[in-house]
Amino acid sequence: MSALPPVLSSRITAATEAVFGTPYDPELRSATKPEFGHYQSNVALRIGNALNKPPREIATRLVAELRLDDLCEQPSIAGPGFINLTLLPRTLAKAVNEPETFSSNGQRVVVDYSQPNVAKQMHVGHLRSTVIGDALCNVLAFTGYVVIRQNHVGDWGTQYGMMIEQLLEEGLEAESLDLEGLQHLYERSRKHFERSSGIRQHSDADGNFAHKARLRVVALQSGDPGTRTMWRHMVEVSLDDFDKVYALLGTNLTRADVVGESAYNDDLPRVVSELDEQGLLTESDGARCAFLPGFLGRDGNPLPVIVRKSDGGFGYSATDLAAVRHRVGTLHADRIVYVVDHRQALHFDMIFTLARTAGWLDVPAEHVSFGTVLGPNGKPFKTREGGTVKLVELLDRAVARADALLAGREGVDREATARAVGIGAVKYADLSSDRGNDYVFDLDRMVAMTGNTGPYLQYAHARLTRLLSKAGPSTEVTQLTDPAELRLALLLTGFASTVEQVAETLQPHRLCTYLYDVASALSVFYEQCPVLSSEGETRASRIALCTATRKVLQDGLGLLGIEAPDAM
Ligand code: ARG
Repeated sequence: MSALPPVLSSRITAATEAVFGTPYDPELRSATKPEFGHYQSNVALRIGNALNKPPREIATRLVAELRLDDLCEQPSIAGPGFINLTLLPRTLAKAVNEPETFSSNGQRVVVDYSQPNVAKQMHVGHLRSTVIGDALCNVLAFTGYVVIRQNHVGDWGTQYGMMIEQLLEEGLEAESLDLEGLQHLYERSRKHFERSSGIRQHSDADGNFAHKARLRVVALQSGDPGTRTMWRHMVEVSLDDFDKVYALLGTNLTRADVVGESAYNDDLPRVVSELDEQGLLTESDGARCAFLPGFLGRDGNPLPVIVRKSDGGFGYSATDLAAVRHRVGTLHADRIVYVVDHRQALHFDMIFTLARTAGWLDVPAEHVSFGTVLGPNGKPFKTREGGTVKLVELLDRAVARADALLAGREGVDREATARAVGIGAVKYADLSSDRGNDYVFDLDRMVAMTGNTGPYLQYAHARLTRLLSKAGPSTEVTQLTDPAELRLALLLTGFASTVEQVAETLQPHRLCTYLYDVASALSVFYEQCPVLSSEGETRASRIALCTATRKVLQDGLGLLGIEAPDAM
């Protein structure tokens, strides 16, 4: 069956048209209190304002015209003229029994997420992008999009020239280095480069290094085979390591989704020439720049998008412009979503604006921005030495906490469940607060079994699974009488519209809040409504309600990328 709010809305609109000759938006909302029923329409106030008539009088005329008796009890009018609607139990039962599903919407959405950098460990910022991006991909696919994942890995730029020169100078084999080795090599090469570029002449050994590193970048970007082989090795080692994190997290990203910065290399000259032909570029300190109206720095001076640097190299912006062209022109995106931390907001604002001006971007492009993960001291999460916290270690710690929680539980696959609960706890904590906010990485809170946490929801699901295993099958909700039962049923009917809202707003926390409400209503239901000890139709109907609740929890957690173990 179709979702209830749209049906109710269209009936109210029909009544406004019949009475006032105009189809008004009924402004249907969830009731603010249970005693007001299930939904409320404010349309009488709106019309009263427009026609300068008392809203209560308008509400009375609308209610007389409203045809809702197949779905609702007799509507009531409250306060200044709210129309309150209470669904009939059989309407709710039908909606629970026939949940709404989505069909393809024919739209293609590109989601740019995770995006770690080669030769560096993934850090908590990449964790956020990966977890939020994965959940959004699931939600978008569920609501009918074709989802195209793009892992825009940072694998291009001057640093690889430095690293390769350093490697050669130290006489190391590229094959001998793992990710940690690469990271240290990067540090050494950076220091070397800084020392060297401070020295003007190329006469001494160090001055030569900066020069050689620059030449090496040119060799890399123009495809010199030996240079490419060493670079390729660095990329492979890093991607192998990222894959380990992805496997531990249980994300959907694969190697096929990696389209790194390097993939756009051959398009970069074209990006510059097309912008040039359109007269969008200016020479500034030897660099080719676009100055967009309205983008000013703190000093009030115009801010450039640097498309080609003074040394002829291309940077992050050029690559992102090429990526937009590719996503619209080749991947045929109808919508593009970038899951990247809030510090890059200005970058994307400028890239989108320039790409639109150049005619490359004619579909919605959204920066799904997120806040910073903080350490216990309320400052950005770092090791005691000030380095980046290794993601794998953090996740391992969460799994260990979850494992301790499961001590002594019977009938539980301890290893698999600890993994599901630990990883689920971290993911849920990340997804459940408004993504724009910073949050403190606090394992105690994340792994807690009470409150709005992953383990709480997983436990609600596992408990239902155990109950249902004792109950025998029943799939038809046929009676809803107790208020706790009605409340739970009403919530279940909101699943599809909640998921749809997440697809629209790209705010996964809305789904978390919804699932938490469902789990909370379920625990009230357990208190008020015996299931297994009831009899006859009541028992069968309650078992069916539990079955539907279990499905919503399982599907909802699944969309968030969180496992729902059958026992814990
Ligand atoms: N690699 C970048 C970083 O770690 C994020 C890339 C975001 N995506 C993009 N299309 N620019 O900060």
